[in-house]
Amino acid sequence: MAANLAHFFSTFNLNYTEKFAYDYAIKTTVWAVSLTLISTIGNSLANKMRGKPSTKGLPLQHPTFTALDDIEYDIPYVELKRYLQKQSIAQPILLQLIFLLSSIGYFLAYLTYAVIPSILSSLGIIPIFLSFLLTIPISVGKACFLLFVACPPELKLFIKARLKKKSYAPVRKAYWQGRCVYKLYPFAFKLFASVLTLYTILIPLVTSGSCLAYYTPGYGTSFDAYTLSTQFSRFFTLEKACPEGRICHIYSTLAEDASRSVIINVHAGSDIENLNVVYTKENGWIDEEEPRNKSSKGWFVDIERKAQRYVHSVYLDNLEPNTEYNVQFFSDKHKYLGDARFVTLPSNRMEANITLVTGGDSSGSSKTFKFMDYIVKENPNAIVIGGDIVYDNGNINCYYCWDYYLGLFGELNQKVGRLVPLILAVGNHDLGINSHQFREINKNENLFFRFFPQHSVENNTRVPENEERMAYFHHVLGNTLHVTLDSGYLNKFGGKQTEWLSEISKKYQKYVKFAAYHNPIFSGCYFNPLEYGYDSRFLSWIPVFEKYNYMGIFENHVHLFKRTFPLSFTNKNKGPGVVYFGDGAWGVNENNCYYEDSNPNITGIFAKMGSINHIWIVKISASEVQYSAINLQGEVIDSYKQNIKDYIGTTTGSSSKTKFLKKLQDSTKGKSSKGNSNKDILKNLDSSFQKKK
Ligand SMILES: [Fe+2]
Ligand SMILES: [Fe+2]
Repeated sequence: MAANLAHFFSTFNLNYTEKFAYDYAIKTTVWAVSLTLISTIGNSLANKMRGKPSTKGLPLQHPTFTALDDIEYDIPYVELKRYLQKQSIAQPILLQLIFLLSSIGYFLAYLTYAVIPSILSSLGIIPIFLSFLLTIPISVGKACFLLFVACPPELKLFIKARLKKKSYAPVRKAYWQGRCVYKLYPFAFKLFASVLTLYTILIPLVTSGSCLAYYTPGYGTSFDAYTLSTQFSRFFTLEKACPEGRICHIYSTLAEDASRSVIINVHAGSDIENLNVVYTKENGWIDEEEPRNKSSKGWFVDIERKAQRYVHSVYLDNLEPNTEYNVQFFSDKHKYLGDARFVTLPSNRMEANITLVTGGDSSGSSKTFKFMDYIVKENPNAIVIGGDIVYDNGNINCYYCWDYYLGLFGELNQKVGRLVPLILAVGNHDLGINSHQFREINKNENLFFRFFPQHSVENNTRVPENEERMAYFHHVLGNTLHVTLDSGYLNKFGGKQTEWLSEISKKYQKYVKFAAYHNPIFSGCYFNPLEYGYDSRFLSWIPVFEKYNYMGIFENHVHLFKRTFPLSFTNKNKGPGVVYFGDGAWGVNENNCYYEDSNPNITGIFAKMGSINHIWIVKISASEVQYSAINLQGEVIDSYKQNIKDYIGTTTGSSSKTKFLKKLQDSTKGKSSKGNSNKDILKNLDSSFQKKK
């Protein structure tokens, strides 16, 4: 333990955020303590300068009375005030000035202690939890300081006298003698000042690198689904994620054409800056065939010593479709580090079936883990995770949640016998912001972006740098176009994102089309557009989904289970309607709103819904798409089928639109507060979209 402590202090490695917290602690401590001392000296000086009693009245703006005015007005207080006024001394201008400056000094000192942490955290400079830890006790300390140390001595003595029901004689005496409370209680004052000073240094030290993680089993203090860990607690409880000389995670993501390219991501020890990736399509030993190779220079993770590693993302292209590849990893000193296998997806001309697994709001919970074996059985071509992936809230100190999660997928890949590519949409808990906040996110400081390149750049030649990584992108998976969208975190719904969605949908018109994003348009929780209004994506995304006959849309965020009927809102729909699946409950605690809402399906758009943890298995063949929802027990709780020919290349409308409208009208009869009929609203939505275009 002692050795550990010594090691901890000798190797304390402050990261960027922590440096700010540390600087902040030092600066604010110096600033606040200086102000407190100057104010105290000023106050003391002023008390001495007051000299002997005078018959002149004490000005009412004297700090004594300003403070006294805050106390409940009652008869003894009035008596005291009158008494003090009668007996008080004349206050020279200089004395008043010193009192005033002292009061301002105290005020600034308190402000420094109590307000700055919240300002720093709102600017994203220190973690919010650190700010919380700093601000609450500082505020309590501030109140204590005001009451027992900095408050006018008369007030303190007055309170004491009141409590002890004694006379006001000590008040008079103390005031005339110019005593201050810190003179009366020097030990208490010194103790308080020392504790405050130590506090501003120790708290940031002990709380630096704080992470409040949801669901992931923790290396700190756990409260229900939450775990608080700090660099301090992790130092003693967490193993180094990537020891030197080793690879700790291998996983794959995809570029645009999944039949001809793949992105292999490797986390390796902090001594493996350069990685040599050798790959061949043959099974067996690489040297039997002429291998291809790529070298990678890694990105160094320097969050804390336990997290240090190099992250390599290598773009392998010009691959053959539906082909198994063996890939081996070597250090720049030709040391063998590990290997993996991956299989490219079939091309759109192949008659191969494709299986996708999709869900959202996963995390490293035991429930998420439970689904892994069901996924292994499905042997999917890709896994789509619709945001809120590990609930790190964009806090880089929560890196260990990603390690835990990648460990789960590492086991899954081992069981499947190859790397199953991941497609990940961004969610609020991946960034630490809500939709439409549009706060600037530093992609270098965000592990969602740093760990998961999901598209290529420069005409499919390389992996994007962190700053170039987009929150919306597409993948072609056999005969399927899968679009991942940003539901308002870094990009607005309309504008560029919708234009891009239109372009890409048009380009792949003849493909089966799906989209996934985090925040749902048709939330399974209190969904009643006639009461609460329509999401603006009605005007931007839905017309595109319908124009290009998207078959399935995967929504998340609400922690429920839902499937809508096929829905059509615009005249552009030529197919049976778009079906929306969701709502992201792959391991998180389910939302209770389904039970709290007396009529959760008031619009009638939901064919199935409930408060159920689940994932969706999507099987795409040449002729149909089969969706199955699987619950925690591995049971199929919903099954739904679509014929591809009803969507692709069809030019005739379907009756499901009328059916849906009828359902919506029947179920919401008399609910519209604005008196508009549903037809009007939908017509208006359509015409406003036309105008917008
Ligand atoms: Fe969530
Ligand atoms: Fe969410």
